Amino acid sequence: MIAVRRAELNDVDAVRQIGLSTWPVAYAGLVPQDFITDGLAQWWSPEAVERGISKGITLVAAYQDELVGMVGLGRQDDYWVMWKLYVLPDHQGKGVGKALLDAAIAALPEGTPELLLDVLVANEQAIGFYRSQGFIEPTRTPDRDLGDDLMWMAIDLDRT
Ligand SMILES: CC(C)(COP(=O)(O)OP(=O)(O)OC[C@H]1O[C@@H](n2cnc3c(N)ncnc32)[C@H](O)[C@@H]1OP(=O)(O)O)[C@@H](O)C(=O)NCCC(=O)NCCS
Repeated sequence: MIAVRRAELNDVDAVRQIGLSTWPVAYAGLVPQDFITDGLAQWWSPEAVERGISKGITLVAAYQDELVGMVGLGRQDDYWVMWKLYVLPDHQGKGVGKALLDAAIAALPEGTPELLLDVLVANEQAIGFYRSQGFIEPTRTPDRDLGDDLMWMAIDLDRT
């Protein structure tokens, strides 16, 4: 059974470990090694992970006392953006990503119209997953240049 809960400050090490273990496997061959090294240093530092827990929304998925996945969301302009969604390689394809995504959407403030995310254009596995969950190309995006390697996707949350 997968249990998804809000991350706490004493989860920082375990949350970091999910990124440190998942990035090299997920991104090998998709991006230069520098991107992985620099990204882990920038986005998965203890400070960055701690900020995500205290200032954004960070949820973790626990399986038998082990944290096997995480999702991190934050504000950008007027939008909510899912900056991180990672499941440990050995636990992918078992519903953990979907459980985290569903819980992340449920954790957003009521009335949030859409959820955006950024994904590597070369990450076909993740893009396929996001499409299967209803994400499409957004009609409007935050005012932030993602560069050529990343793209925005969005899901409409207006259920009226
Ligand atoms: C992408 C990721 C978060 C998905 O999580 P996951 O736990 O592996 O996916 P799930 O098992 O929850 O998949 C749920 C559903 O999505 C579908 N799905 C998953 N990947 C898919 C793909 N590539 N194409 C189509 N559908 C896909 C599954 O069939 C499943 O549907 P079902 O419930 O009807 O069987 C995870 O694989 C991961 O961490 N990958 C590596 C890191 C990464 O790329 N993260 C995203 C960065 S932007």
